[in-house]
Amino acid sequence: MLDGFTFQPLTRRHDRGRFSCGQPDLDRYLRELARRQDENDTTRVHVYANDAGEIAGYYALSALAFEVTGLPPALQRGRSQYVQVPGTLLGRLAVDQHYRGRRLGSFLLSHAMRSAVQGSEIVASALLVVDAKPEALDWYLSHGIEFERMPGMPSRLLLPMESIRDELDR
Ligand SMILES: CC(C)(COP(=O)(O)OP(=O)(O)OC[C@H]1O[C@@H](n2cnc3c(N)ncnc32)[C@H](O)[C@@H]1OP(=O)(O)O)[C@@H](O)C(=O)NCCC(=O)NCCS
Repeated sequence: MLDGFTFQPLTRRHDRGRFSCGQPDLDRYLRELARRQDENDTTRVHVYANDAGEIAGYYALSALAFEVTGLPPALQRGRSQYVQVPGTLLGRLAVDQHYRGRRLGSFLLSHAMRSAVQGSEIVASALLVVDAKPEALDWYLSHGIEFERMPGMPSRLLLPMESIRDELDR
């Protein structure tokens, strides 16, 4: 996608201070919280970075569980024997403003979906959950992906892992 950039786990050598996506809370998260959450095994932060440590974009994945009865009816089907089902949360995704509009965000989203499926092959996860910023909701929906909405949480998008697998197999 970008010359010299690869997906890497976030480490100390990455220049977190220089990253600027236009959403101060997403910049602050990367600068101040991401390393600690990664070290605490609560969130895995994946950066798209080069050898100089420059970060062009990042996304964050973690695990969560849902009450089956809180899911949209279509996603409750076949799961009524469970109280909860496991999911994978795409909690944050951002592109540095310098790299905007080059499809890098879409590239990160598709890498995050692939990572979620790969993770679910080792530890089962039924759903990918995207907690979108309200102002980025249209961006997520512009990808033609058939997300379900979490009842009562309009910015929380849900996608069964099997749909992602089918999409990636195509
Ligand atoms: C949203 C974001 C990830 C998009 O990244 P990007 O690399 O610029 O996007 P892409 O190049 O993949 O897509 C560009 C297209 O999306 C559109 N787009 C960009 N941001 C948008 C938004 N917030 N809402 C609707 N459409 C948006 C662009 O107009 C463009 O459309 P076009 O193809 O018709 O010209 C990036 O703008 C960003 O990091 N924003 C700040 C952080 C954020 O909101 N993150 C998501 C919530 S966690």
